[in-house]
Amino acid sequence: MIRLVLGSRNKKKLKEMLALLGDLPLDLTDLTPYPDAPEVEETADTFIGNATLKARQLAPALNAWVIGEDSGLCVPALGGAPGVYSARYAGTHGDDQANNDKLLREMAALTGDARAAYYVSTAVLADPAGTVVASVEGRCHGVIVGARRGTGGFGYDPLFLVPEYGQTFGELPPDVKRQMSHRARAFEQLRPVVEREMVG
Ligand code: IMP
Repeated sequence: MIRLVLGSRNKKKLKEMLALLGDLPLDLTDLTPYPDAPEVEETADTFIGNATLKARQLAPALNAWVIGEDSGLCVPALGGAPGVYSARYAGTHGDDQANNDKLLREMAALTGDARAAYYVSTAVLADPAGTVVASVEGRCHGVIVGARRGTGGFGYDPLFLVPEYGQTFGELPPDVKRQMSHRARAFEQLRPVVEREMVG
């Protein structure tokens, strides 16, 4: 079976990605078997740019097919922030609590349509030589609520309300998020390419 490496160290994101591709006849893994994998710096100013950096640097280093994923939350009323800085919005990478507090502060004076937000997930598939085979993007639209609701998901999920359900990603069951999230919509597009290129 051909190995496909999910080039991320975010355990919660990995769990979602594994669930989205887990049924394919592939040796699907995260970076755990590769303790010496290079730490890819996210220096691009777009999601797709950062996902491409991850896939192109990791694939030849691991000599394996790699999916690089980069994602985040965009609030148009804040000029697209937190955007590519979503993981380190409040300063420390991965401090969800501080990031959510900052988002609530920045949006305190905003009402109605100005509270609209969307998640973006970009995924890039590179072959073992580091050649990009596919680049996809998925989005999921919602509204930022005024206080945390629910404890599910990760990142900004307790603040991200999905209007169709009237619940945040922190409240909705994980399988609902897995069906309609930005990551699901990106991986839906990647799946046929993975099947064609790798399963044959
Ligand atoms: P990355 O690991 O550099 O792609 O950063 C992703 C960051 O965007 C995370 O740390 C979260 O803050 C945010 N994010 C991306 N996807 C999600 C999601 O599905 N739920 C909540 N936050 C997300």
